[in-house]
Amino acid sequence: MKALDGIKILDFTHVQSGPTCTQLLAWFGADVIKVERPGEGDATRKQLVDVPGADSLYFTMLNHNKRSIELNPKTPKGKEILTRLVKSCDVLVENFAPGALDRMGFGWERIQELNPRMIMASVKGFGPGKYEDCKVYENVAQCAGGSASTTGFLDGPPLVTGAQIGDSGTGLHLALGIMTALFQRERTGRGQRVLAPMQDGVLNLCRVKLRDQQRLEKGPLTEYSQHGEGIPFGESVPRAGNDSGGGQPGRILKCKGWETDPNAYTYFITQAAAWPKVCDVIGKPEWKDDPDFATPKARLTRLNFIFETIEQWTMTKTKFEVMEICNPLDIPVGPILSMKEIAEDEGLRATGTIVEVDHPTRGAYLSVGCPIKFSDLEVEVKRSPLLGEHTEEILRDVLGYTENEIHEIAGSGAIGALPKAAE
Ligand code: COA
Repeated sequence: MKALDGIKILDFTHVQSGPTCTQLLAWFGADVIKVERPGEGDATRKQLVDVPGADSLYFTMLNHNKRSIELNPKTPKGKEILTRLVKSCDVLVENFAPGALDRMGFGWERIQELNPRMIMASVKGFGPGKYEDCKVYENVAQCAGGSASTTGFLDGPPLVTGAQIGDSGTGLHLALGIMTALFQRERTGRGQRVLAPMQDGVLNLCRVKLRDQQRLEKGPLTEYSQHGEGIPFGESVPRAGNDSGGGQPGRILKCKGWETDPNAYTYFITQAAAWPKVCDVIGKPEWKDDPDFATPKARLTRLNFIFETIEQWTMTKTKFEVMEICNPLDIPVGPILSMKEIAEDEGLRATGTIVEVDHPTRGAYLSVGCPIKFSDLEVEVKRSPLLGEHTEEILRDVLGYTENEIHEIAGSGAIGALPKAAE
């Protein structure tokens, strides 16, 4: 028994944002039917290819546990099949460019006519307004949602971050929206539209920076290192380098081996409660009673000097030794882990957050499993579908087409070529 057993998702998503959402729903037990363009499929199948002829990691890592049907809803037969799918599914998820679904003849009005219980969930780049017609990718959303202007160093250009907060972040928002709409449908019996614009999703994740914008209007942001450096603030929240975003100052500091290892660093937070222990660990016990260092307020103007001093200590230890020493003392630190280290991390493998998945054409590969853990829901990561792998089975078992009808459909151009055995 899985949480979403019996829920059918008509998955019109592609690239990253939408597939992130539907992959989660599939992990939670929904039957996710991914609709793909005959002969081509999701464009990511052929992007960043590492094993010639096999689906790319970009695709496989975002489409686990789904079924794939090849279908062109722009053909008459394709429209008939899509109509039947809409009638038999609970949720339609899509992240086409604005207007694409309407052009196919399946806008919200039509969907409601066909199935009033259906939830129609969309990712778009922007919400209603002057940019609503724009096509948007990850980095555009990071820029338009406020992340890029607040990421990077004060003296450098805006920076995008490696975390896919625009795509995967919005996919997460949409999944929550869908679950909420399903829950509401339990009470009302009605479906509804759910929209997760990428700009809004990024902004939601940058909430603390809008907090700081309003604080800035009242005075300097004293916890930002530029304040201690005597650099005046401008009109908007500046890039804060590796300053901690909260009230507890923190920095990235070099560790043993930094000269040759680009990731021999630790994040070090001087949480007020742990300050006496920080002083002892770094060999500065006198700072505990020194009025220049004893209080968070006094430290604010000396943060650069303080972190330089702490770094003299962290540079004598590996990032893992820093963790081993500081953790028992409740000093919050974290090693900068490389992707190689994460791929090999035994703990993440033990919890299923890093999983090895087998695939018929590409062989075994690593993926990120479900990052949410349940006490009463087991998530099993199954390989992504081959293009059109389930076309026949969905037409037959979900929609009730007979073998003869399926042959007829195959000749109409609405679906891809059927496997030899079925012809
Ligand atoms: N059969 C036939 N046609 C299909 C099809 C299928 N199964 N699936 C898609 N198509 C068509 C669409 O109907 C559309 O045709 P139209 O423009 O003539 O109406 C066409 O394929 C292209 O779709 P589109 O979504 O515009 O793809 P794109 O590659 O041009 O743009 C994005 C990609 C991501 C920029 C765009 O989809 C977008 O802005 N999406 C919303 C925001 C988003 O999710 N961005 C992040 C993606 S990770």
